[in-house]
Amino acid sequence: MATDKTGKKETALESRSAEGEKLYSPSAARNRDPIRDVIVAQLAGVGSVLEIGSGTGEHAVHFAAAAPGLQWFAGDPDPSARDSIAAHIAGSGLENVSGPHWIDVCEEHWDAALDVSYGAVVSINMIHIAPFSAAEGLFAGAGRLLRPGGKLLLYGPFARNGVHTAPSNEAFDASLKARDPRWGIRDLEHDLAPLAHKNALRQDIVISMPANNFTVIFVKV
Ligand SMILES: C[S@@+](CC[C@H](N)C(=O)[O-])C[C@H]1O[C@@H](n2cnc3c(N)ncnc32)[C@H](O)[C@@H]1O
Repeated sequence: MATDKTGKKETALESRSAEGEKLYSPSAARNRDPIRDVIVAQLAGVGSVLEIGSGTGEHAVHFAAAAPGLQWFAGDPDPSARDSIAAHIAGSGLENVSGPHWIDVCEEHWDAALDVSYGAVVSINMIHIAPFSAAEGLFAGAGRLLRPGGKLLLYGPFARNGVHTAPSNEAFDASLKARDPRWGIRDLEHDLAPLAHKNALRQDIVISMPANNFTVIFVKV
């Protein structure tokens, strides 16, 4: 099992290229335009966006460039990801993206030190490559942080009503669990709906995305 500098398991499931501190993710290159289109359409006017688990930081600068009306805050608990986020932000010349923040949503009250009011919390390809406590912590923090009408946007593979939506997702789920039994594709109805209910979030829309992924948006009640 590959480990990062801190001895923790790597959560990138792909070979990333590097240029100085900047990391480049093949999956981010593939999915960034479809996700950007959803963000531009669905998060217009929300103001500040907190991204959890930004990875390389490529998404953050791509979305901030496409949505100048948003103020994007990127971050990650992984040190090499934070170095990459900082390098991508510095290289972008954009004024509406900042970070990296250090947030691990498995930490209790991870949002306590944040002093900005956020219109949206975004997390892409994170909750299936982390223990379920990451999903629990993400929803709990989003429920506290978001103002009424604020949005929690998740992107990734999801099961629906106990069933995988594609054979490739079923195989991916098995491979995740083989790497770490605490990881796995989350089920929108069985796993996430109870977390939404508990934290005053209402599932708003589910958008089918390429490669059997979904964007799911929850709204703070
Ligand atoms: C598969 S990568 C996805 C990165 C990026 N969002 C993307 O789609 O390219 C998952 C990211 O989530 C971060 N992550 C894992 N556990 C986390 C946690 N408990 N809190 C916040 N971020 C976490 C990892 O460090 C990693 O950068």
